[in-house]
Amino acid sequence: MGNLSPHYVVPISVKPLVVAITGASGSVYGLRFVKVVTELGIPITLTISNAAGLVIREELGIDLEGRAQIEKLFDPETIANISYYAEEEMTAPIASGSYPTRGMVVIPSSTTSFAKIANGISDTLIERAAECTIKEGRRLVVVPRETPMSAIHLENLLKLTRLGVRVVPAIPAFYSGAQKIEELVDFVIGKVLDQLEIPHTLYPRWIGSAH
Ligand SMILES: Cc1cc2nc3c(=O)[nH]c(=O)nc-3n(C[C@H](O)[C@H](O)[C@H](O)COP(=O)(O)O)c2cc1C
Repeated sequence: MGNLSPHYVVPISVKPLVVAITGASGSVYGLRFVKVVTELGIPITLTISNAAGLVIREELGIDLEGRAQIEKLFDPETIANISYYAEEEMTAPIASGSYPTRGMVVIPSSTTSFAKIANGISDTLIERAAECTIKEGRRLVVVPRETPMSAIHLENLLKLTRLGVRVVPAIPAFYSGAQKIEELVDFVIGKVLDQLEIPHTLYPRWIGSAH
């Protein structure tokens, strides 16, 4: 048998949030999300798809050389709060629903990843962890990035929504007066945190028009 721990209870305070960064444009959303969540004191179990590695190289000029070199992506304090598993590591704790987590965020989510999650095709750790999150009734947030969307995309997102998955498209709002790309990124990150009921001050909330 594998690594069973019959008497081990994971304290609520250290239950990790599972984060998957997949190969959609907007890898900066995933990296920023990980940094913000660890700064809030929440540990993360992280996976980065192989395709996300390609996107990171294109968008951020960071070459992971096909391996998970998270030291190239995060500072040491952030890394101290991350457990990392490659998408091939099907023996990772998060491949089992018996491993307790706070839920999972796929950010950004490629159309491929959310299609596989919506249809129960779990051939990588990312989809398997998402499958476990759904079957255990935990919160799953998917942050798709594609435009335009076809009926295939929309049907898959509708299916996920009907399963209770929160779909938070990577679409920032502009009423918050953002001046910099970082503020637009933080708006989306804040919207994801809202779905997880994690308090934050990443974007100013609308309190009505002054007019
Ligand atoms: C530079 C680049 C940008 C991409 N942007 C997107 C995108 O915005 N949305 C998307 O769904 N796929 C995008 N793709 C395609 C996905 O990476 C591809 O479908 C991949 O198989 C997804 O695999 P994954 O879901 O395992 O990460 C992009 C690929 C590259 C190389």
